Amino acid sequence: MKVGILGGGQLGRMLLQAAANYDLITYVLEKDPNCPAAHLCHHFSVGDILDYDTVYQFGKHLDALTIEIEAVNVDALTQLEKEGVKIYPTPAAIRTIKNKITQKQFYADNEIPTSNFVITHSADAIQGHLGLLPAVHKLAEGGYDGKGVQVIEDEKSISLGFNAPAVLEEKVKIIKELALIVGMNAKGETVIFPPAEMIFDQVYNLLDYQLSPAKIEEKQLWKAEAIARKVVQSLKSPGLFAIELFVDQNGEILVNETAPRVHNSGHHTIEANYCSQYDMLLRIILDYPLGSPAPILPSAIVNLIGAEGFSGDVVYEALDEVLKMENVFVHLYGKTTTKPGRKMGHVTIMSNDYQDLTHKANKIKHTLKVISK
Ligand SMILES: Nc1ncnc2c1ncn2[C@@H]1O[C@H](COP(=O)(O)OP(=O)(O)OP(=O)(O)O)[C@@H](O)[C@H]1O
Ligand SMILES: [Mg+2]
Repeated sequence: MKVGILGGGQLGRMLLQAAANYDLITYVLEKDPNCPAAHLCHHFSVGDILDYDTVYQFGKHLDALTIEIEAVNVDALTQLEKEGVKIYPTPAAIRTIKNKITQKQFYADNEIPTSNFVITHSADAIQGHLGLLPAVHKLAEGGYDGKGVQVIEDEKSISLGFNAPAVLEEKVKIIKELALIVGMNAKGETVIFPPAEMIFDQVYNLLDYQLSPAKIEEKQLWKAEAIARKVVQSLKSPGLFAIELFVDQNGEILVNETAPRVHNSGHHTIEANYCSQYDMLLRIILDYPLGSPAPILPSAIVNLIGAEGFSGDVVYEALDEVLKMENVFVHLYGKTTTKPGRKMGHVTIMSNDYQDLTHKANKIKHTLKVISK
């Protein structure tokens, strides 16, 4: 079976690592010939995943296609689907999700709980919705890693908003952020991974590390699972999805956003769960039985992010210290140059004891630094 991936970043790389266990031929399309996935596939094509002809030509000889980023040419995928190429997820599901306006409308249409919102086309338009403030303004398309997300606290900060199609949504009083990964096969059978919980840096408001399974009440777990399943069943698409959720101060669970692909909140499943998110997606594509998402041990993820003030050829400071730690797994994404904020790798920690996870996560964050020569 010939399987293609649109995008050659670290998610594609880890998907290829799992694909090496199965009998398939892999193809990757990506602009950058030195991307993380370039050297792990059978066939690499240099090209723009947003260009209709490039995506169509790449896909037309393949049996199946998947994505590792949603900014792809959906029209080309729609045509390929018509011609019999299996696309995971369906082009229709990608189209709904890749635009934050249609994504929010999809939640509203399917009675999936999400924060109240309106659609705007300029910053000035926020003036007409003062009752929604404090709010969060989100670009409909083109945002990534938090860029394209702007908090509008009050009337004075309206000018910070976007002058392009966007969603203005109520700012939720968040107690916890969770991510749930759901897989669905062509028969409509679903499988759900235990939720991951994001632990934020109070000072910088950055994702500090992640714990899984999240520490939440059983009732909240059931609610979160029911909502995440409903998102995927309403999308009516086979594939693998990550649903980001907020638990608010009243204990209500709201959907923040959905990613129609393998997700950074599921890196730990490589070592810490019986079947990883990558293996699960491949089983869905190959029409194999779904795997077990159960955890082998609780785990934490520390992301290795390019440090402030360093750009150029990467150096991983104190890598040896981390490699000596027990039940700790280092993943470097093969990016040769670093810059501030760039995702360069991650470390997974496994332990039966949550205190041990937190302790080791903090130790790794303070020892291992991504700097340059
Ligand atoms: N309605 C909201 N109320 C409160 N906080 C929010 C809201 N929407 C987003 N945030 C905060 O901003 C973060 C980023 O928002 P979101 O996930 O929508 O953007 P993104 O561009 O996809 O970012 P990322 O790539 O980091 O997931 C959320 O994880 C959350 O902490
Ligand atoms: Mg997000």
